[in-house]
Amino acid sequence: MVQEKILHGADYNPDQWLDRPDILKKDIELMKEAGINTATIGMFSWDKLEPEEGDFQFEWLDSIMDTLYENDIKVILATPSAARPAWMSKKYPEVLRTNERGEKMRHGGRHNHCFSSPIYRKKVTIINKKIAERYKEHPALLMWHISNEYGGECHCQYCQENFRSWLKKEYSTLENLNASWWTTFWAHTYTSWDQIESPSSIGENEVHGMNLDWRRFVTDQTIDFYEHEIKDIRKLTPNIPITTNFMADTMDLIPFQGLDYYKFAKHVDVVSWDCYPAWHNDWETTADLASKVGFIDDLYRSLKQQPFLLMESTPSMVNWHPVNKAKRPGMHMLSSMQHIAHGSDSNLYFQWRKSRGSSEKFHGAVVDHDNNNQNRVFQDVRKVGESLEKINKVTGSSKKSRVGIIYDWDSNWAINDSQGFSQETKQYPQTLQNHYRFFWNNDIPVDIISPKADLSQYDLIVAPMLYLIDESSLDKFSTYVANGGNLVMSYISGVVNEHDLTYMNGWPQQLQEIFGINSVETDVYYPKDRNRILIDGKSFEVKDYAELFDVKSAHVIGTYDEDFYAGQAAITENNFGKGKGYFIGARTNQEFLDYFYSYICKEVQICNDFVIKGNDNVSVQSRKLSNKEVFFIMNFSESNQKILVSSETVDLLSEKHVNVEINMLPYEVKVLEKRE
Ligand code: GAL
Repeated sequence: MVQEKILHGADYNPDQWLDRPDILKKDIELMKEAGINTATIGMFSWDKLEPEEGDFQFEWLDSIMDTLYENDIKVILATPSAARPAWMSKKYPEVLRTNERGEKMRHGGRHNHCFSSPIYRKKVTIINKKIAERYKEHPALLMWHISNEYGGECHCQYCQENFRSWLKKEYSTLENLNASWWTTFWAHTYTSWDQIESPSSIGENEVHGMNLDWRRFVTDQTIDFYEHEIKDIRKLTPNIPITTNFMADTMDLIPFQGLDYYKFAKHVDVVSWDCYPAWHNDWETTADLASKVGFIDDLYRSLKQQPFLLMESTPSMVNWHPVNKAKRPGMHMLSSMQHIAHGSDSNLYFQWRKSRGSSEKFHGAVVDHDNNNQNRVFQDVRKVGESLEKINKVTGSSKKSRVGIIYDWDSNWAINDSQGFSQETKQYPQTLQNHYRFFWNNDIPVDIISPKADLSQYDLIVAPMLYLIDESSLDKFSTYVANGGNLVMSYISGVVNEHDLTYMNGWPQQLQEIFGINSVETDVYYPKDRNRILIDGKSFEVKDYAELFDVKSAHVIGTYDEDFYAGQAAITENNFGKGKGYFIGARTNQEFLDYFYSYICKEVQICNDFVIKGNDNVSVQSRKLSNKEVFFIMNFSESNQKILVSSETVDLLSEKHVNVEINMLPYEVKVLEKRE
């Protein structure tokens, strides 16, 4: 990481105010007051940088960069490819995206260029190179922000050609491709490469192997475009780190579904992401939502196993939720600190100043239309700035987790595409978030990892609903457990291979051995159907899915209560080599997951050493420095809460001594330092 302190800053769009020198001057004055040390600029500036083809105008940006530098504000400088000037779409319509129905999009909006278009690539090369050449030695330049929130797909002829080339590389022969895609079904066999077209709702969309490959291709194609964007930048500024902002999906706060970030993360120097939770909504508790945010923070931190950046967040509200509610007092500090607690080295906002017109004029910003510092939001931001200054020492430090939860983009795409089970209740990422919830409630650090990650560093691997598992991952799981690892898996796991072809002759052998069972049938429930699992005189609700299996060597922990499988195994435990395989046969509510993981964590001896008596509304996360650990204690509730910890400490924010019994006010956050 390049920075010495936590970045506190915002997306800054001075290009919207170039005719208002008074505003630009006021910006700097207010930035200083709010403790802003970073500005992210240039994301949507192409029309100002190149107002007409070949007419480059950098003077305004020079002056912004210089002024920021003179005021000790570093710059995360963006390339402008996420939105192009109107002249370009008019003159070169090929730069516009084509949708899956084959319709060419019109100019407007943003994030809608074709990743293959040679002209778009050429134009991007020119502008990016000019920017890099001009600012490569500028002392304000801290980092590159490539484009903005890459996403979406294009189905134009260039992209079709690229898809075919990608497939040729992948399969070499049509024979292989047809076999892997099971195309004999419905007479879909391809006899020539040029017959293949991208999936479309008005064309082919039932060949699941192809759908899956298309999604992989879209990831690779996006990365290829990104690599194209950074080629000259890398050469000209080899020491300036490069990032691009990742996303989460909608208000649900599940990982972004469109791109495989495990692949993408390998190409960036620092992972960064944009987080917009609907705090204070009317369908979940604050702790429910905070736990989902924690899940994504942990996933994005785990992508590179190093601190990440929170690139965008709102200091107050957004403009695109169905209801755009303001953060209540205390929430801005709490939600900002949460990201730092999970490994972020920044707290950055969208945006610095509210636009005056167009669609984002009501999106929250540090500076409102009132253009002053006399409002709650500005003061909240100022307080966050002050607090970050007090905890700068955590910059660059990371976390150590003994638990890994497996999330897999391929598996998610494949299960969502599958026509089976129940369309409404698959909910793979949400299921993982429910499992994660136990660890969040119990303040146990977790990495969210790919099946391809090194599993050996974890004492417990949790891999529910891993529908797609390729052969090599099956072997990996075997080795992991045989060598002493503990693996939890659940219903609908190990069903298909990497081509979305089902395994033949029963459940994969490796899984049968690890879990000592053979999964034979999955019962799917209507939304109101219920069953129960009986364990040790207790009973837990079952909904949505119940898997039936033959028990071989496993020890049965719990059985089904009702239906034609009453009395049969639902939860099992099996010794395999030096480790154990635990299997959860059915979808349950949180009560069961809490019971089950409490048992496992006791067995594996995993707990938070610092927290003696935790609290489901109070999240404790820590960052480890060489000779100390910094604990973030966060009350995600609207009432007072208590926790008990093992030693007295000092709160770095209030600079006050803290007893072992800690009383937390609603939305309060404390940052405690514990020396070793
Ligand atoms: C992000 C985007 C920003 C801004 C923000 C509003 O997705 O990167 O440019 O539009 O949303 O919430």
